[in-house]
Amino acid sequence: MEKSNEPYILDDETAGLFRVNRRVFIDPECLEHERRRLFDKCWIYAGHESEVPHAGDYRSRNVAGHPMILVRGDDNAIRVLLNTCTHRGAMVCRQKAGNAKTFQCAYHAWTYNSRGQLVGVPGEDSYSDAFKREDMALATPPQVDSYRGFVFVCFDRAAQSLYDYLAGAREYLDLVADQCQLGMKIVAGQQSYSARANWKLLVENSYDGYHGLPTHQRYFTFLADAGIQMKGGNISTQHQRAVDLGNGHAVLEYDSPWGRPIAQWAVNFGEHRKAHFEELRRRFEERFGAERAQRICETSRNLGIFPNLVINDIMAVTVRTFYPVSPDYMEVNAWALAPADESAEDSALRLDNFLTFLGPGGFATPDDVEMLESCQRGFANREVAWSDISRGMKREHPSITDELQMRAFWRRWNQLMTEPQIRRARKAA
Ligand code: FES
Ligand SMILES: [Fe+2]
Repeated sequence: MEKSNEPYILDDETAGLFRVNRRVFIDPECLEHERRRLFDKCWIYAGHESEVPHAGDYRSRNVAGHPMILVRGDDNAIRVLLNTCTHRGAMVCRQKAGNAKTFQCAYHAWTYNSRGQLVGVPGEDSYSDAFKREDMALATPPQVDSYRGFVFVCFDRAAQSLYDYLAGAREYLDLVADQCQLGMKIVAGQQSYSARANWKLLVENSYDGYHGLPTHQRYFTFLADAGIQMKGGNISTQHQRAVDLGNGHAVLEYDSPWGRPIAQWAVNFGEHRKAHFEELRRRFEERFGAERAQRICETSRNLGIFPNLVINDIMAVTVRTFYPVSPDYMEVNAWALAPADESAEDSALRLDNFLTFLGPGGFATPDDVEMLESCQRGFANREVAWSDISRGMKREHPSITDELQMRAFWRRWNQLMTEPQIRRARKAA
């Protein structure tokens, strides 16, 4: 059954219906278009400045299909270098992380400094006068920029600035970054796992407030059996909202039923920490005033930054990014973000929260992955062509269990996936 002429999205605001064509989850051609029209055009998260605190510190990783090195040079500037030797292609950095003055390619030993400049070529006198070292520095993405410590790259020279691209998401990154006067830091260690599912299913799942109780029943049963009560019993329906932040970004914001590790004696932190968290809370009020302090300390956020960055500021702050290897397979990386001055004891509690719920072997992630893989297997029934994302569409104020946030993603996705074709058609006309 060939359905490639059907639209990706059906978006009927009048009727209150929103449908996504399931071929976007299984079609290799669609993935190829995503690579060119999304991942090569959008600002993509590459890492956090705190991961390379000292001159020479580096992290090598795959960012949206590109092997890259995030490095702080000997001039203290943070750069992103493309991890491919300008001689004949080998990756010049084969370690995941470290501190180095130079990167030496293992193939023929060309050597680059921490700024990416070529500083050593064995047998250089064999080259002609036209060969210039300065032409052979490691390449960089056309645009690299950061916002509040979050480093992004963009392969489109003509793309809007990162500041403009982030649009309404900046406010929410501020709420995360303001959790510590000294800045936030990525906690050592990284979760890397994969799922046999399309990457956009994880976008949806990351801010899907509808699935919590049925999918994670095991977790809630565990809490109940252990006699652990969530603050307020459950997510308050009064203080919660889903917001379209522009450019495909969206957020769920709600009173934190678990309590927050940054400023209150959440169930997970125990009574003995109460005084400490009260003092922290008081300092937040001093810095930001009562209203903003309340928002930073006592509300949770599931933030999606288009296309593939998720920041879940819930029990702990999780930074998660993922990239498709094939239509039905993605690789996921996640880190914990914490106040730079957090004590060892609090950090241990934070990590415990991070791993217990959102770790690859925690209470939530295996359940989520199983559901995403289940959807992907269900898509083998090509006769059922559409998924429904209509929930809450006719409500004036959609709740966090509605699907406004997903529609914000899909509308932007659809715009980017279809716009270039329209432009080309106009040119030809
Ligand atoms: S490929 Fe790196 S030195 Fe030859
Ligand atoms: Fe979940």
